[in-house]
Amino acid sequence: MQYSQLSTRICVPYAVSLQPKTTWNSPKFNNEKSVGHCTRVPRNVNMEKLQSGYLFPEICMREFEHSQKYPQAGLIRLGVGDTTEPIPDIITSAMAEHAHALSTVQGYRGYGAEQGNMALRKAIAETFYRDVGVKADEVFVSDGAQCDISRLQMLMGPNVSVAVQDPSFPGYIDSSVIVGQSGMFQDENGKYENIVYMKCGRENNFFPDLSNTSRTDIIFFCSPNNPTGYAASRQQLKQLVEFAKANGSIIVYDSAYATYISDESPRSIFEIPGAKEVAIEVSSFSKFAGFTGVRLGWTVVPEELLYLNGFPVIKDYNRIVCTCFNGASSVVQAGGLACLSKDGYRALIAVVDYYMGNAGIIADAFTSLGRKVYGGKNAPYLWVHFPGMSSWDIFSEILEKTHIVTVPGRGFGPGGEEYIRVSAFGQRERILEASRRLKNLYK
Ligand SMILES: Cc1ncc(COP(=O)(O)O)c(C=O)c1O
Repeated sequence: MQYSQLSTRICVPYAVSLQPKTTWNSPKFNNEKSVGHCTRVPRNVNMEKLQSGYLFPEICMREFEHSQKYPQAGLIRLGVGDTTEPIPDIITSAMAEHAHALSTVQGYRGYGAEQGNMALRKAIAETFYRDVGVKADEVFVSDGAQCDISRLQMLMGPNVSVAVQDPSFPGYIDSSVIVGQSGMFQDENGKYENIVYMKCGRENNFFPDLSNTSRTDIIFFCSPNNPTGYAASRQQLKQLVEFAKANGSIIVYDSAYATYISDESPRSIFEIPGAKEVAIEVSSFSKFAGFTGVRLGWTVVPEELLYLNGFPVIKDYNRIVCTCFNGASSVVQAGGLACLSKDGYRALIAVVDYYMGNAGIIADAFTSLGRKVYGGKNAPYLWVHFPGMSSWDIFSEILEKTHIVTVPGRGFGPGGEEYIRVSAFGQRERILEASRRLKNLYK
């Protein structure tokens, strides 16, 4: 099978090719057709708990169906949140140079350090944590924040309790379910048992009411938040760190969008005094450098962070990285170093500014429709409110009438109902076209 076929294939559960029947009874699914040979390996019960598809494949499927129905419509994708602008040449040239050197005797390198190239670890510490005392040794370079979230889940195992913002990036909850930290999904409230959902809506300035939040071992916290686009203030993050300290919890802080912050909001949890004793930070080159396909991220595990028995978390994380990862691609790390060079960084900030220009255009379009728009100032996401409406209905209406793909807020948790998330990643002329279509939506 061609790679392109593989990557665009839509995975339909149980759409397996039929094999000769085995001696034991193969199960039948809804259509009462035998699925063919089944092994005797039981399905992981935690996988069975997961709700339908992961959100983004579900949106891709709807998008695909829509484009089959309206092949000439000129679909505009403001849904999944993938970057669109070319990576600056200074960065791709560094990767190409490194790749070419691998074809030479002098330039060939095999495995690198599992924790990442020390020059890159130093550059990350220097660029993002200069004034907050994060050491290069505490930075673990990776193949992306989502992979790090899963590795952190593996580190923590099934026996920890977890809290997430509601709404939140689905990776936290789904990985919690997969490792066995949750109970069953409850249809009546759209939540998993044993996961604490910290409501972050317009009513509470997109920050949880901590006086009313149960203690958990782990608190996933994303700022600027995906999907709301809200960046927590210094005062709010101080409260969060105090809360974690008082409860003996660990914050897993996701700063994947930190470079989009345009005001005084902290760009790292480590800007908050005392955070090194209670927090881990995951971050990414994906949205900041257009590396969504290239894959590069990092995690900071401070030496001060200790388990109940006084054992340093960093030692166990190092073990996980060595056992379950083995280090990021050397070619990609060369690109990462170029991103953090003076010229590379400047070129990337220009791209960030471009996306934020898009955010302003989309915000104006929704505002002109009388909609209240949140986000879009410190993050490339707009969180648009449609009071009293179901978010899947808003998603479908906008798709049907304007051929613009958004994301229904419900996909990020029950707290996302009545909202859609609109991504500001896109080429300017497409964003302007989206703005025109939206302004005509209710005319
Ligand atoms: C909040 C958040 N964290 C992590 C990720 C995944 O980042 P990466 O591409 O580095 O895996 C995303 C991607 O959309 C995200 O929105």
